[in-house]
Amino acid sequence: MTFDVGPGAKAQRLHRDDKNFHVDHEDQTATGYRTGSDVMMAFMVPGVKTTPENGATLAVPGSHLWGSDRPPKLDEAVAAEMDVTDCLVMLGGLYHAGGANITETERRLLHGMFFTRGYHRQEENAYLANSTEEVLSWSPAAQKIMGFELSSPNIGFVNFQLPLQYMRGEGVGEAFGDFDPSQEKS
Ligand SMILES: [Fe+2]
Repeated sequence: MTFDVGPGAKAQRLHRDDKNFHVDHEDQTATGYRTGSDVMMAFMVPGVKTTPENGATLAVPGSHLWGSDRPPKLDEAVAAEMDVTDCLVMLGGLYHAGGANITETERRLLHGMFFTRGYHRQEENAYLANSTEEVLSWSPAAQKIMGFELSSPNIGFVNFQLPLQYMRGEGVGEAFGDFDPSQEKS
């Protein structure tokens, strides 16, 4: 999604993007980060140079390690100033907010790519937002990353077919019933 923030836009409040997935964050400030404790990751790519004036994203460094009981404060946040070709990479547990745009004329364009684990629903319902013709016209990599395949072993099948087999109108194949690649073949 692209965020196009014009002059006068107010700042968002600090938040964690993984709130949609009801993550119960444990305090990892003493232990260090436990790999796998996040359920999503985001890549924020600026379309223009972002500044504290035009609404650069505010982020609280280290807050991905905080327990659910610690609220963020605005004075802990720093502005992620970026040039075009930079990228802000955030785990879903990082507190951040879109900054206010206090300029008269600048539009702050920021492209966000958000990824979640395959066993969670996507925030936007990509299955309704895109027609079969559109999805079939995409590259295999785009189809995969947009969720039009299984999350192994068995999340996301349709009529006991892989989503793309279904969309292409193929019949039920040998895979009927279980797509688990670790399954012993009979
Ligand atoms: Fe956010």
